[in-house]
Amino acid sequence: MSSESTEETAATTTPTTTTAADQRPLSSSSSDDDDDDYDCVVGRLLPNETAWTNPANGEEYRLQTQTHELTRDTTVIRSLDWDRDRFDIEFGLEKGTTYNSYVIKGKEKTVLIDTSHEKFEQLYMETLASVVEDAETIDYIVCSHTEPDHSGLIKRVLERAPDATVVGTKVCLAFLDNLVQKEFKKLVVKGGDVLELGEGRQLKFIPAPNLHWPDTMFSYDTESELAFTCDAFGAHYCTKNVFDEDLPKLMPHFSFYYECLMKPNARSVLTALRKCEADGVKLSTVCTGHGPILQRNSEELIGDYKKWSEKALEKAKASVAVFYTADYGFSDRLSQSVARGVVKTDCEVAMVDLSTCDAQQIVEDVGRASGIVLLAPPNANEDIQDNIGVLIGAVKPGKQKILVCESYGGDDEPVDPLMRKFAEIGLQESQSPLKCQSTPTEGTYQLYEEAGTDLGQLLTQKEKLKEMKLSMSADVARALGRVSGGLYIVTALQGTAKSAMVASWVAQASFEPLGFTIAVAKDRAIESLMQVGDSFVLNCLSEDGFEAPMKHFLKRFPPGADRFEGVDWKPASCGSPILADAVSYLECKVVSRMDANDHWVIYSEAIDGGVFNKDAKTASHFRKVATYY
Ligand code: FEO
Repeated sequence: MSSESTEETAATTTPTTTTAADQRPLSSSSSDDDDDDYDCVVGRLLPNETAWTNPANGEEYRLQTQTHELTRDTTVIRSLDWDRDRFDIEFGLEKGTTYNSYVIKGKEKTVLIDTSHEKFEQLYMETLASVVEDAETIDYIVCSHTEPDHSGLIKRVLERAPDATVVGTKVCLAFLDNLVQKEFKKLVVKGGDVLELGEGRQLKFIPAPNLHWPDTMFSYDTESELAFTCDAFGAHYCTKNVFDEDLPKLMPHFSFYYECLMKPNARSVLTALRKCEADGVKLSTVCTGHGPILQRNSEELIGDYKKWSEKALEKAKASVAVFYTADYGFSDRLSQSVARGVVKTDCEVAMVDLSTCDAQQIVEDVGRASGIVLLAPPNANEDIQDNIGVLIGAVKPGKQKILVCESYGGDDEPVDPLMRKFAEIGLQESQSPLKCQSTPTEGTYQLYEEAGTDLGQLLTQKEKLKEMKLSMSADVARALGRVSGGLYIVTALQGTAKSAMVASWVAQASFEPLGFTIAVAKDRAIESLMQVGDSFVLNCLSEDGFEAPMKHFLKRFPPGADRFEGVDWKPASCGSPILADAVSYLECKVVSRMDANDHWVIYSEAIDGGVFNKDAKTASHFRKVATYY
């Protein structure tokens, strides 16, 4: 166990499982209520609804808290963020989200597991006071992961419970120092460590790095058998149902959440599941950090994580090792963006934290990889430099591609000389090093994600082409090629990120509402900006004026490039570009997405539109064979 000046010592005795009947989770009662009906059956939905104004768009978001006793001494405090509509660039939310926090009152020690988002300050602190009357009785605050949606109020709780000890992984507590910015008691824990809560009851810790941040860990109460997993197994789905009673409604949110946050870390998901099994951690009641607690369907849903992760690894056509430094600058977030881009191309990713990995792990992950991504480490850290030395010694000259990127940590090892080092030993760069010279914005994350996609495409293109040709008989390919379409430019914008693509697989799909589908390849950059609830513009091209815009938007743009440079356009009401070259346009909202193996079929509702040239005919797109666009 590592130690810091204000640390306590965690008990490391072998945990004894002392399940008492009265500590088993109280059963969830069924609720058929509609989500919008606040008269809930399970839990106490407090009449404290308030509003938070989003500084970015001035819109008001409804906030509310709810409590429910999971056992006689364990309570969940759910912060219901009914209207939150986005988490990062790639993650549009359809049904808001919740931030779940848990209080365990052991016989001797009281523990708070995670808190809430800062915007809930008043509601959360009042609700916490109703659960723990005297905040000073909180002995431990477990921080499962430091993203501010879970740790944003730790600082406030510490003001009321200044003697409480904050418990987390080494990386987590290093992050938290920056957030809290004053001295507090810390306890660094690692796998196998436990906290004694009294009378043999223990809270056991299971590190789960990369699910989805390097600092993440699970906790397990040996008496109640509740597992606290923070982001893992969660869903951005705000409902008054404390538990996973309504599986059909939960499922789309649960699977989308996996796709965005966990799929890039499929290998880490399987490692965490193996660790839980080995440590006797039952995942039967899974107290998530977002959305409903898994209880009724936990076996099936945990099984889905396993199945999806195994499938992602089986399907992988190449492996990419992403090296980052967890507690340095924006290395973790930027590395996740690159990883998301890479997995769009059917590659698997191994995330390796240079500050905690050992030489054997580096050698294994590099040995398996055909692509290497290196987020610049801090310049003067001897341990990390040793690991870079191991990495350099493990690469396979002439056989691997590399992408080097800045981390925006204030003391990055300069990326150009770093890249030259790898080039000298025979690694080919997938593109010139990515630079990040200010706090990352949506545009920066888009740049890193697109660079990841480009690297993945380089590694998988040949095999994909070969597979595609083999998968279709020549006759079927020619017959399908006779199905014609129009020619369109789809444009979309989110904050500083904007993108465009030429589309021809577009078809009207409904009268009421006026809806249509577009098929978008899964490795398209614009796909991240076309999540359910997102808006975009469909620009229709004309028969006698399609060549110039089509030629422009068919170009292969380098990652992060402005597709609209030199293009005449004006913003639609959603902000997405309406092209001057279009004969008509539709402003649309994404309603649903269907998984069609290598494409997303995106069904959208047309909200607004206009025709600029009534006499022009839409361009038609004819092909002879269906094995290309
Ligand atoms: Fe829910 Fe990664 O924070």
